[in-house]
Amino acid sequence: MHAVVVEELGPAENLQLLDLPEPQPGPGEIAVEVAYTGVNFVDVKARAGGYRVDRLPFIPGIEVSGRVRALGEGVTGPAIGTPVVATVRSGGYAEVVVAPAERVFALPDGLDLRAAASLPTVLPTAHALIHDLGRLRPQESVLIQGAAGGVGTVVGQIARLAGAGGVYGVVSQPEKAEYALEFGYDQVFVGEDFDRQLAAATGGRGVDLVLDPVGGESWRRGLASLARYGRLVSFGNASDSAPWSAGFAELSTRGLSVSGFSILGLGAEDPQRLRRLTEDAFALAATSGIRLPVTAEFPLEKAAEAHRLLESRTSTGKLLRVSSTV
Ligand SMILES: NC(=O)c1ccc[n+]([C@@H]2O[C@H](COP(=O)([O-])OP(=O)(O)OC[C@H]3O[C@@H](n4cnc5c(N)ncnc54)[C@H](OP(=O)(O)O)[C@@H]3O)[C@@H](O)[C@H]2O)c1
Repeated sequence: MHAVVVEELGPAENLQLLDLPEPQPGPGEIAVEVAYTGVNFVDVKARAGGYRVDRLPFIPGIEVSGRVRALGEGVTGPAIGTPVVATVRSGGYAEVVVAPAERVFALPDGLDLRAAASLPTVLPTAHALIHDLGRLRPQESVLIQGAAGGVGTVVGQIARLAGAGGVYGVVSQPEKAEYALEFGYDQVFVGEDFDRQLAAATGGRGVDLVLDPVGGESWRRGLASLARYGRLVSFGNASDSAPWSAGFAELSTRGLSVSGFSILGLGAEDPQRLRRLTEDAFALAATSGIRLPVTAEFPLEKAAEAHRLLESRTSTGKLLRVSSTV
């Protein structure tokens, strides 16, 4: 089978198309013939800096849609040929991937293979950020970085569905702000002084929940933007900042809470909890009309172009890579 392999961490050129033996499912596993793979920012982090990479060489890609190709020992379904989505630790940039059975799901109602491939990571992440970690209550307000991206596009919609009173986003360019406004946002701020813009928009009150995937200075400004009893959930470090911290004085005066979330960490530590989260998130998508537009597609051999686009900070919505067998 064809697969995109990283032998050495580094730039996008290090994504190499190779011919490899097809992986076979072991006990408790399912082999999936890949139709589409979701391209995630974490794939870039893995390729460039080894984020959550166990060993080299490795095949990037943590979410796919496709058809069941083979069942490992002890696995009784779904039947061969059934359309499914799956999440994996790695291996998605390939024509066949093996996933643990508990991370293989029926397609959410109403979605085809293409639409479904955009959701297995983004949707549960957004659901966990708003509900499990953020505990957003009706009429509360929320601020999200990267509002026009994969996670940001879906978070805006889930916040709205949860009854948020104000949904504010942050992006790096004006065109992205226009795009994000189609996905549940009331206002989208452009640039690093988002804290000043938010203060002006909220009469100095700030928001009840900040969701930050950037870290460092963005995280600090997010913390400063919280209203009394506000919560900040950190879910990435796109800025590659050194570990950040907050002391008693900063948190206690306004009664602030800080937490962190990693869907890959959840999958590694508590696969059943991740399965429930994914099922809940898919059920919400099936009934609510949440959408995550696919804005660009790349064949397997053009994986490097997809990574360059994500790194350029000009992409919106979701990027997919397409299998040569579709
Ligand atoms: N913790 C988790 O479980 C989890 C799960 C999924 C994703 N994430 C994180 O959530 C974020 C969004 O993921 P995604 O896959 O949906 O990607 P995405 O939002 O489609 O693309 C990444 C976005 O990050 C923003 N960004 C901020 N600083 C950046 C930098 N230094 N370099 C490049 N981009 C930067 C860019 O938006 P602007 O240019 O508008 O700022 C860019 O569009 C990522 O940081 C990812 O690591 C975390």
